This record gives sequence, C-alpha cells and structure tokens, in this order.
Amino acid sequence: MASFHTIHGSGTTHQAEPITPSELRSEFSHHDPTVARVNNGSFGSCPSSIISAQQRHQLLFLRQPDYYYFNTLKPSILESRRIIRSLINADHVDEVSIVDNVTTAAAIVLQHYTWSFFSSAFKPGDAAIILNHSYSAVKKAVRAYISRAGGHVIEVPIPFPVKSDDEIILEFQNSLQMAKANGRKIRLAVIDHITSMPSVIIPVKELVKMCRDEGVDRIFVDGAQAIGNVEINVKEIGADFYTSNLHKWLFCPPASAFLYCKMSDELSDLHHLVISHEYGNGLAMESGWVGTRDYSAQLVLPEVMEFVSRFDGGIEGIMRRNHKKVVEMAELLSEAWGTELGAVPEMCSSMVMVGMPACLGIKSDEDALKLRTHLRECFGIEVHMYYRAPMEGEVDQITAYARISHQVYNRVEDYHRFRDAVNKLVKDGLTCSLLPN
Ligand SMILES: Cc1ncc(COP(=O)(O)O)c(C=O)c1O
Repeated sequence: MASFHTIHGSGTTHQAEPITPSELRSEFSHHDPTVARVNNGSFGSCPSSIISAQQRHQLLFLRQPDYYYFNTLKPSILESRRIIRSLINADHVDEVSIVDNVTTAAAIVLQHYTWSFFSSAFKPGDAAIILNHSYSAVKKAVRAYISRAGGHVIEVPIPFPVKSDDEIILEFQNSLQMAKANGRKIRLAVIDHITSMPSVIIPVKELVKMCRDEGVDRIFVDGAQAIGNVEINVKEIGADFYTSNLHKWLFCPPASAFLYCKMSDELSDLHHLVISHEYGNGLAMESGWVGTRDYSAQLVLPEVMEFVSRFDGGIEGIMRRNHKKVVEMAELLSEAWGTELGAVPEMCSSMVMVGMPACLGIKSDEDALKLRTHLRECFGIEVHMYYRAPMEGEVDQITAYARISHQVYNRVEDYHRFRDAVNKLVKDGLTCSLLPN
C-alpha cells in the first residue's frame, strides 16, 4: 500500500494524492515514444506538470515585468532556496545560492581561488587535487582557473572497475602523501560525489575528512548527479562548497543548480561570474539577479516537492526504487551478454556501468561514440558509453561499459530493447571498425 506524503507549503498542510500509472505516463508523454531512454544522467528529465509551472512563471513575468521584478522574483527564489536548504540539511538559507548549472558553480568557486594566486595569498606551485574521473568540463575549468594562475594540479588515479570504497580511499591518500612529500601546499580539493563517466559513488565523507586531517585548505564537492539520486547531507559531508544540478535527478527544468557555501568569512568574498546590481550583497543575492533573463527554471521547487510527494516514500522512495531497479536491469544485461558490472551495487546510484561484449571491438573513445550513435539511430536507444583502455598485459578484457540509468518513467522494455539490440549486433558479427565515422 503506497504511503501518502505530506506537503508543507504556504502555511497549509495537505495529503498528496498518489500518482496513478496513467498520470505518470502523461507526466512524461512529451518524451519521444520511439526512444528507449536509459540515459537520465546526461540531461535529466522534467515532468509536464513542472513544465506547466515553469510556463506559469514565464507568463507572470511577461504579463507585468515590473510588478514581477519588484514583488515576485526575489521571494520566489528565496522559497526555492529554503526548500533546497532543508533537502541538503544546510544550517542557513544564506549558504544556498541558485545558479544555472554545475559548470557555473564550479567556475564561481575556481575563479575565487584564481584571485588568491593574484593577491599572493597562494604561491606559484600551490596545488589543487582532483580525481582522474572528474567531469571533463570541470577538469578544463581547473586548468583554466588554477593552472593558468600558476597553480599545480594533481590528478588522483581512481581505479575502474572498482570493488570497494577502500580502493578509492587508498589512491586518494597516496596522492595526498606524494604531494606532501614534494612540499606542496594543497589549497583546494575538487571531489565528485558521483563521478559521471565511469559512474561510481565516491566515499566523499571519508575523503573530505582525510583532506581536513591532512590540512587541505578548502574542499569543493561536485555533486552534479547527486540531488534526487543519493542522499545529500552537507553537514555530515563537511565540505566548504557543494553543488548539484536540480535538472538531472530532481525533475527541475534546465537550467538550474544550487551551490552551497559553508558559512565563513570567505563567503562574503565569493562572487558570481556575472556582476550586476546585487554585487557585494552576498553570493545568493548576486546569483538571484545576473541581468534580465528567464529565471523560471529556478522557481518550480514547490511544485517539484508536490510532484515527488505523490510517490511512495517521496524523493527517498524514488531514489531507493531507482537504485534497486537499475541494479536489477544491469544484472539482466550483464548476464545476457556474459560481461560484468563496473562497480559493486553498493557503489552505484541510479546509474550502473555494464560491461559491453568484447567482440564488438570497442578500441577507442571514438568507437564508443560511434556505437552510441549507432544504437540511437538504428535501434532507438539512448545510452551513454565509456571506453576503458586495457591495462598492460590485459587481453580479451571488457573495453567498454554502457552507463544505464533508471528514472520513474523507465519500463523494463527499455532494457530489453537494449539487450536485444546488442545481442543482434553480436550475432551479426558487427565490430566498431565497420561503423561509419
Ligand atoms: C559530475 C558532473 N559534473 C559536472 C557536470 C556538468 O553539469 P552541467 O552541464 O549541467 O553544468 C556534469 C554533467 O553531467 C557531471 O556529471
């Protein structure tokens, strides 16, 4: 029996109606029905009731922009920030800013540390530490903001496939020790909560604690894939900065993300990249007005909370079931293809890496992309593909992993289609070298 979830808002409390299967289908009826979408991790998904809520905000603005600007926008953003504060267990709403996406949040934090090199608070050669599997756009930002300012970047070689948190913790510890032995001062650690490719949950709390023990100055957690996917408790995690996209797993429209900055003297010195009227009024206020633009994607958090409350157990129930289902589907695929999962289920969120049959001959990133395109164009399957170069001495190893996901709109048929398509490619003797560039 599905439990009702209570909604609090506007001073009233009411019971949400459990969503019916046909209502659920209708919420995602704008998805292309010909496509099996098992890649929620790239761009997320947004139900039609949330799109309608967003359009209501857009029309309210267009109806009377002056009134909306002076009376509606700021309180609406504040309401969204309050909801996020409670979802992530931050102490204060001033610690929560809403920005476009994690790329922007990372640039805000990294730019702040560029200034520290320019002001001589940091010395040339001071270091930032990052994971080898960090998101490539964030890695590029680290290079652009830290390396160009004279900083040194250390990449931790996280293993993949991976069987335990300890393997990651050990590598991280080794990298910190090596940096210390070389006399480097580590100013910033950038740690993913869930790496994107290959997708694995990182033992972020343990790594943050290790950074603290080893005297790393500041810690920034990239949780782009985390909110709505795994639990986030910023107080328990203990980082200085934490960001997550609201548009990936929390059903918000693109583009929306939050940036949590732990209360400190430094917070007043942190600025949005786009300077506008609110400059100097704190990052949360600065982020609330970056010039005239559409802010509607940031304002639908109340409706999102109402949407998730219609599912058994609310957002926690959704996360639990997504994880359970995606592991079940990943095992179904790996058994059908005679391969293995890239990480043990406890290290997976609502995304799992499934080994692809070696006979497909996936020998490069380009091959992985060609196969991904072929699956989309010839079989109507949207799935992300990861190439893993064989280590020295490895033969007949799995060289690629599909990153499959599960979200509330998925059906078992989506995974059956993927299984059958790969089985057909194997049966037909297709290898990536035969696919067009
Ligand atoms: C770990 C990680 N970091 C950063 C990003 C960038 O997110 P966005 O493109 O929304 O800024 C992503 C997107 O997939 C991601 O998975």
